[in-house]
Amino acid sequence: MTTILDGKKLSAKMTDELTQKVAMLDEKPHLAVILVGENPASELYVGLKKKTAEKIGIKSTVIKYPQNTDEKTVLDKINELNNDKNVHAILVQLPLPGQISEKKVIQAISPQKDADGITPENIGKISIGVEPYAYPCTPKGILSLLDEYNINIEGKHAVVIGRSNIVGKPLAQMLLNRNATVTICHSHTKNLTDIIKSADVLISAVGKNKLIKKEMIKSNSVIIDVGTSKVGNRVVGDVDFDNLFELVSYITPSPGGVGPMTIASLMENTYNLFKLSRNG
Ligand code: GUN
Repeated sequence: MTTILDGKKLSAKMTDELTQKVAMLDEKPHLAVILVGENPASELYVGLKKKTAEKIGIKSTVIKYPQNTDEKTVLDKINELNNDKNVHAILVQLPLPGQISEKKVIQAISPQKDADGITPENIGKISIGVEPYAYPCTPKGILSLLDEYNINIEGKHAVVIGRSNIVGKPLAQMLLNRNATVTICHSHTKNLTDIIKSADVLISAVGKNKLIKKEMIKSNSVIIDVGTSKVGNRVVGDVDFDNLFELVSYITPSPGGVGPMTIASLMENTYNLFKLSRNG
């Protein structure tokens, strides 16, 4: 029997719990989001983050810049937010326009205000098995989903397709920290189908519709779909869900799986960073 990993349901539970915790605070946590340019997907994501924050009682400020903004403007703003005691968490929506170095921008964010958990200090802490100030949101959301359904990955072969700094790489490290045997695949990987076939847990973060087909996967495996792409007006994942559903033990829908978990994790990070700012 196949179980759907219901990210919508779990994220609603998480945000309800956060709403109650935030209501007990004497000050609202404050998330600052920097958005550069007019990328429609980024605008959509930032809108969803703002809406969720407001629902919980978290204050959010979106700082919008035009596409041609220079790097210094963004770095100066991050510096200002780092020093602003009334801002507890900072997120720079990615991707950034080509004239701005994402690496420089990420390194400029204070690790104690790193809502995305992607600064070198936080990533480095995860790498050596130390608790970071915040975990990257999508990997954190995926692990929360696995925990909710009591899926133990110790000793299992976890295959991650995609090696981005915000999803693939930190997720691989976090799975490794839980004693999974981890393979990271990417656009240069040879024999991708053979590797996928050996996965007990498959996580696809590519953004290519129907990349993962029935004949590629191992029976009774766990399938996590992180990819998003558009078919017409519809947002779809990487996995050919309808055709392989019967074969697997657990699977995330897309949409309604990892996406809402990413946003709920961001809200948890914001709350935790607020608490950190209070407790030192
Ligand atoms: N772009 C797409 N997803 C994300 C995310 O989780 N965080 C940031 N900062 N940018 C993104």
